[in-house]
Amino acid sequence: MPEIPVFNHETVLSAISASEAIERIRHAFVEYASGEWTMPPKVYLDAYPAGDFRAMPAKGGGVAILKWVTSFPGNAAAGLPVVMGVICVSSAEDGRPLALVDARAITALRTGAVAAVAAQELGPEDARTVGIVGCGFNGAWAARCLAAAEFGPGMCFDLDAEAAGSLAGELGWEVGSLEDALTCDVVTCVTPGDQPVVREASLHARMHLNMLGADGPGKAEAEVGAVRACRLFCDEWRQASHGGELTGAVEAGLVTRDQVTDLGAVLTGAAPGRQAPDEITLFDSTGLAIQDLALCLAVLAAHRAGTVKAQAVRI
Ligand SMILES: NC(=O)c1ccc[n+]([C@@H]2O[C@H](COP(=O)([O-])OP(=O)(O)OC[C@H]3O[C@@H](n4cnc5c(N)ncnc54)[C@H](O)[C@@H]3O)[C@@H](O)[C@H]2O)c1
Repeated sequence: MPEIPVFNHETVLSAISASEAIERIRHAFVEYASGEWTMPPKVYLDAYPAGDFRAMPAKGGGVAILKWVTSFPGNAAAGLPVVMGVICVSSAEDGRPLALVDARAITALRTGAVAAVAAQELGPEDARTVGIVGCGFNGAWAARCLAAAEFGPGMCFDLDAEAAGSLAGELGWEVGSLEDALTCDVVTCVTPGDQPVVREASLHARMHLNMLGADGPGKAEAEVGAVRACRLFCDEWRQASHGGELTGAVEAGLVTRDQVTDLGAVLTGAAPGRQAPDEITLFDSTGLAIQDLALCLAVLAAHRAGTVKAQAVRI
């Protein structure tokens, strides 16, 4: 077997700018919606109560990937990341392994980037202010991507005042209360999803909500009534209806398939996005392997161009 490169956390983050991630994620949704890229359903392997593992395959752009990644929400207390893992990239032509990539960095960049794409597509045209609820690792990258897409200024809220302060300081934004964050045009929630942070009473006209934290069974960041009151969008219906922010409302019989539009359909022009400036839109991001694929292609391109170096291993 030839040697393959291993892209560690820092290399991934230096290979792809937030702006490039946003463009690549937009492209991934279009390719998938057009049937060019394929993605079997993600498989959950539970390790409750600590967390769960996910196996996420996708194919497109000449490669196939398998992402093996965790969500262990209590890990922060032990000084460990919530999301960790590795992505195997193989040639889709002959199956050869091509690279191993840090899943944590790819996840944060692609999750942040889809928040920016959803805000651009679904938020009101003049949306600027950003509320970040949950300023941990993935919340911080969502904020960076929204800032790269020229949203802001932002209001950062976290139960951990230090996390909110550090993110606000980095981006020149402010620290505020949950109520302050929820008054913004684009509210992005990235908490562990163990208690609702968005209530029906917190909704206001023109608001766009990115719900990123609830990415598995039993997690939710919004009250079911709040979800029902919004025009609904998701990254992918199968995932969102079984392990996303929409799941509670779907299980309660309050939301059905015909009330939810996939982001890819909006991006390809097959379905409308926001239909009135005053309405409230909610995007449920559960995280797709096609997003990971898009950013693995970006890392490989940066490596080929000599922009980043990687350690090589023979497997
Ligand atoms: N949708 C996706 O694609 C996707 C991708 C990555 C992570 N996630 C999910 O996002 C969540 C956060 O992941 P992370 O890696 O950023 O974790 P993290 O531990 O780094 O950050 C979570 C932050 O939320 C804060 N928090 C907890 N409860 C809160 C509350 N009620 N109000 C405000 N802040 C609160 C914590 O203090 C912490 O700073 C997890 O549930 C993870 O599974 C989803």
